[in-house]
Amino acid sequence: MQSPYARWVLPWLLGCSCSAPAVMAQRAKVAPRATGRVLELGVGLGLNLRFYDPDRVSEIVGVDPAPALRDLAQAAPRDPRLTLRVVDAEAEALPFEDASFDTVVCTFTLCSVRDPSAAVAEAARVLKHDGRLLFCEHGLAPDAEVARWQRRIEPVWKRLAGGCHLTRPVTAAISAGGMRIETADKGYLPHMPRIGAWIEQGSARRA
Ligand SMILES: C[S@@+](CC[C@H](N)C(=O)[O-])C[C@H]1O[C@@H](n2cnc3c(N)ncnc32)[C@H](O)[C@@H]1O
Repeated sequence: MQSPYARWVLPWLLGCSCSAPAVMAQRAKVAPRATGRVLELGVGLGLNLRFYDPDRVSEIVGVDPAPALRDLAQAAPRDPRLTLRVVDAEAEALPFEDASFDTVVCTFTLCSVRDPSAAVAEAARVLKHDGRLLFCEHGLAPDAEVARWQRRIEPVWKRLAGGCHLTRPVTAAISAGGMRIETADKGYLPHMPRIGAWIEQGSARRA
């Protein structure tokens, strides 16, 4: 039985924070780059689904351990030509065969998983040899003052926001998970509090 927080409050909070215009603009840059069989880690409310190109994507599989979010992802807007399967799983232990996906998409998820480098290592395992990880994540800011506030607020934030961390390094976790960063654009999203606005977005390949 899910708690009222997990059933109602968390989806509402995610809806507010993850669908801000600046965040949706990032999704519109990332998801259209996906090709072939796509795996989305921590699919959440399914806010990327509307941006996949049905002419380039053959199937989308989303994983998420939160039952309420899986239901919402399944119902999220997307092109009717796109096949979607939403699976109860954690990114650190994916129930899929080696080399079975062309693209793994990971947006605003590494902040919330138990072990970011284990999640990336699993992404590398299930990616085909020429496959690609597309990522867009918020994380530890390079400015000392912003990072200080991120560290101060994180203990409370984590409890309110479903385990979301503010101070995790992004590209460092991807490299630690055994992937080679191909491109990475970094910067603050506009019109958002800086503690949650440092974004690292790009792609990585199996090392
Ligand atoms: C901030 S939300 C982002 C959701 C979605 N990726 C997006 O871009 O809107 C973080 C998501 O990670 C999921 N999550 C938490 N722990 C996870 C894990 N170990 N493996 C996969 N997903 C996880 C949460 O349930 C939630 O859906």
